[in-house]
Amino acid sequence: MLIAPSILSADFGHLERDVRAVCDGGCDLVHVDVMDGHFVPNLTIGPVVVDAVAEAATKPLDIHLMVENNSFFVDLFSPLNPEYLSFHLEEEKHPHRLIQKIRALGIRPSVALNPHMLPESLEFLIEDLDMVLLMSVNPGFGGQRFIHSVLERAVRLKELIEKRNPKCLIEVDGGVNDINIHMLKEAGVDVVVAGSYVYKHPEGVKEAIASLK
Ligand code: DX5
Ligand code: ZN
Repeated sequence: MLIAPSILSADFGHLERDVRAVCDGGCDLVHVDVMDGHFVPNLTIGPVVVDAVAEAATKPLDIHLMVENNSFFVDLFSPLNPEYLSFHLEEEKHPHRLIQKIRALGIRPSVALNPHMLPESLEFLIEDLDMVLLMSVNPGFGGQRFIHSVLERAVRLKELIEKRNPKCLIEVDGGVNDINIHMLKEAGVDVVVAGSYVYKHPEGVKEAIASLK
């Protein structure tokens, strides 16, 4: 499984140090949560700060947009060359068009689904995606409790993926820890995002990533 620490739980006064720590600590992707204060009731970072994150990171960026006006934000963040760019299906009138746009920019497209969203809603998009991000908390904040129904959603999504696009990855984001990661693995999840578990681990980020692995 790939581990993508979310820098939302990092110390923003020492962002370079905290990005380096997860990269040196063996993570696979650096998960960056972009929130606009409209789609979610929280505001995080824009391209200036994410550019600094990209400079410090030795692993690819996995940018998670939680915004209104996705296309505008894709234009803002695509010059930073993330590996994955996820946008929320609930907020997009033309997801198929936006997926094509992201791919044409040389970035792997991913669609994020809030906890109530059916995996089957991706039936006619899945062939164009490299990843699906299943939210296991309501987006907006780190440190929330894991919503267990994501396990059933992952199993159902895996069936769809096996039928239509076996190379597509499943990422789960929110409340992941060293206990529920076993169930996520069994449900067919490929990538886990972990924010507070990694950055608040009493033994440090390296130990946290190793325990997830
Ligand atoms: C929530 C974000 C998550 C969050 C995860 O809106 O998408 O990436 O940072 O943090 P934890 O692992 O603490 O739930
Ligand atoms: Zn996220």
